[in-house]
Amino acid sequence: MIEKIKDIEKGAIEEIALAADAGMLEKARVKYLGRKGLITELFKNIGGVSTADRAEIGQLINSLKNTVSKIFDEKAASLSGSWNNKADKIDITLPGIARETGHIHPISKTIEEICSVFISLGFKIVEGPEIENEHYNFEALNIPLEHPSRDAFDTFYLADKWLLRSHTSPVQARFMEKNKPPFAIVIPGKVYRPDATDASHSFMFHQVEGLVVSDNIRFSDLKGSLTLFARQIFGEAIRMRFRPSFFPFTEPSAEVDISCILCGGQDSVRRAGLNLPYGSDEPRRCSLCGGKGWIEILGAGMVNPKVFSNVGYNPEKVTGFAFGMGVERIAILKYGITDIRMFFENDIRFLRQF
Ligand code: PHE
Repeated sequence: MIEKIKDIEKGAIEEIALAADAGMLEKARVKYLGRKGLITELFKNIGGVSTADRAEIGQLINSLKNTVSKIFDEKAASLSGSWNNKADKIDITLPGIARETGHIHPISKTIEEICSVFISLGFKIVEGPEIENEHYNFEALNIPLEHPSRDAFDTFYLADKWLLRSHTSPVQARFMEKNKPPFAIVIPGKVYRPDATDASHSFMFHQVEGLVVSDNIRFSDLKGSLTLFARQIFGEAIRMRFRPSFFPFTEPSAEVDISCILCGGQDSVRRAGLNLPYGSDEPRRCSLCGGKGWIEILGAGMVNPKVFSNVGYNPEKVTGFAFGMGVERIAILKYGITDIRMFFENDIRFLRQF
């Protein structure tokens, strides 16, 4: 019996070693470890062994079974990782699968460009929640309930006084409550307004807000910062125009235009010289500014003292300026894009160009 066990062990080791593929290995497994295999037969025959020897023989068969199972497993593992396994063979002459490299979305890229100009001026980046409450989106910014200007910030309402922020300005108030001046921050992020979608409107878009608070901040600081910003983004030849406007959280407020980046404002200069009214059928009207010579890019102003009071600052002691711009608008102007929806359709042919 002991002889027989040794023979089977030798045979099994040899056959498993010689198995060149999964098929041959499986044959060896069936022959030795299968239900009618040689090792299984040994177990069945143990009844014929004398009781004195039975324990020893049983142990030998057991350890034979363990040894053979182990080398079988090892061989199976080595075959499946092997070049010789026909099923897994790799044809190195086949062309490779090219992986597309992703890149930054044009909106993210524009946000980065805008923010990096302000970072170079010493601003820090701050972010705030997109789900806001009425207090920060409106009241803290001097936009009380029933105030007609509240309509200008048309809003998606959620349950219980919660809403999707309609501008990034609420982060001004959140930041001021937690920090003391002096500081200069920019706040990039998504905002939401229930506008019908068309070429220039989207229910979700991005803004970059700016806020500078210190003592003795003047309107000229606002003008200087925004002029530098516009020239870095659109080119050194850009001229600025600050038009009086109204925002509840700034006083005075301005809407800020840049000279047309397509005609350089030349169309309006030339038309003024010719004394042509804008509505005339003069054929060479600039397609971007419509002959006006100016393009609006953002809203801005000196922080309203009421906002300072609302966040617990002393309005007699601190001064500041704030601005807010639409990122899509800047990107549209910078890259000559004709439809805001292109940013969010995820058409790879469009996105690839940036
Ligand atoms: N929050 C204003 C808007 O969304 C923009 C703005 C920001 C204006 C800061 C002035 C100062 O239209």
